[in-house]
Amino acid sequence: MGQTVSVFGLGYVGLPTAAAIANCRIRVVGVDVKTEIVDNINEGKAHFVEPGLDILLAAAVQGGMLRATTRPEPADVFVIAVPTPLNSEMSADVTRVEQAARNIAKVIKKGDLVIVESTSPVGTTSAVCRWLNSERPELKLPDQNQDCDIFVAYCPERILPGRTVFELVENDRIIGGITPACAKRAEDFYRNFVRGRISTTDAATAELVKLAENAFRDVNIAFANELSMICDSLSLDIWEAINLANQHPRVNILKPGAGVGGHCTATDPWFLIDAAREDARLLQTARAVNDNKREHITELVRSRISEFERRPVVACLGLAYKPDIDDLRESPALRITLTLAEEQADILVVEPHLPALPSSLADFPNVALVDLGTAVSSADVVVVLVGHSAFRDLDWGSLSEPRIVDAVGIRHETQRARREPIVGSSQTFPKTG
Ligand SMILES: NC(=O)c1ccc[n+]([C@@H]2O[C@H](COP(=O)([O-])OP(=O)(O)OC[C@H]3O[C@@H](n4cnc5c(N)ncnc54)[C@H](O)[C@@H]3O)[C@@H](O)[C@H]2O)c1
Repeated sequence: MGQTVSVFGLGYVGLPTAAAIANCRIRVVGVDVKTEIVDNINEGKAHFVEPGLDILLAAAVQGGMLRATTRPEPADVFVIAVPTPLNSEMSADVTRVEQAARNIAKVIKKGDLVIVESTSPVGTTSAVCRWLNSERPELKLPDQNQDCDIFVAYCPERILPGRTVFELVENDRIIGGITPACAKRAEDFYRNFVRGRISTTDAATAELVKLAENAFRDVNIAFANELSMICDSLSLDIWEAINLANQHPRVNILKPGAGVGGHCTATDPWFLIDAAREDARLLQTARAVNDNKREHITELVRSRISEFERRPVVACLGLAYKPDIDDLRESPALRITLTLAEEQADILVVEPHLPALPSSLADFPNVALVDLGTAVSSADVVVVLVGHSAFRDLDWGSLSEPRIVDAVGIRHETQRARREPIVGSSQTFPKTG
């Protein structure tokens, strides 16, 4: 019989990983603390939407290669993919990684490999060695012994929700071993299902690299958001400015938005800030700029609605943290809509990816979920918070400038694609190039 892999944490990362491994004819046992998730998976059903996952999961479960449980079982390889959220002190809460490691210690045996995939502060993989060792002092762990009984490595995940099934296999991976032998063991394991390039390093460097990748995104988005606020105060068109600046062969300014959301880009830079607060000045500033962009958009809407003598109607287009998904975690669009709902306005929400208002908005008598046409025809002010594809079909040219607050530049983009003049913008020539 071949090796068995046990994946701890069956969420956005762990479940597709478990299904991908099982589809390579490797037996997988998934472990999750939530019984309803375990029951769903054993019926071959995913508890979240991810293109291609249902087929992969059903094949793995029906083929007898994947099952789920709430209790740890012996295996040859253990993959930890549990959450690592921010706590109230803005540092990483790694208690779930510790719980998983201590549970793995109950069933681990000589020769096994433990891999941490959860996004973690530098030093967490070494801490996993200590947690395993405190439960099983008879086993030689690699942080203390070159000639070890257990192999431990860090392998961060780089998937993009919506493309997970493809990217899990095709993306390049970094593996950080506690020792080079640990990295080699982990590399051999990932070669079973990863087609991308695999680079090996030490565990602490791999932990830092994952955090650096997300902080890089946050800082670059902060630059775009700051520039957009400068353009607003100078009454210049940010979208035209970025388009022109990006014609420079070495400039690539990202798109501004309503802020930064999601559970990675908005949170992971704090793991680095927390580790070296005095040195991480740019990262702290980027976080502040991106949070402030949310306030800036809210203020723009307030100034538009203050001109109405009656109670205004505001259409908020999009609640998700980014286009074309239903994920509301840390979403600036949701935060802006909530703030406006608490103020003196009637809110028409358009979110094509949700069947109903989220619980945080559901109890407001002045908030309703409506379709795009109803929202735009009834609203005094239209606020575009997310660049969902579904919003691109709108005839943006028919809306006058004072009625729109466009945080994501969808109006500019769609009119540009159709070569229409941007009516009321500082630049009214038909766009070229
Ligand atoms: N979602 C992404 O796109 C993404 C991308 C890269 C990295 N990550 C990182 O991967 C990790 C997991 O993220 P996710 O999005 O899959 O989280 P998630 O919340 O979707 O899933 C985590 C699962 O772990 C389970 N769990 C919690 N504690 C557990 C324990 N002690 N033992 C077993 N199961 C436990 C939860 O019930 C849940 O089902 C995080 O560190 C995250 O930052 C996520």
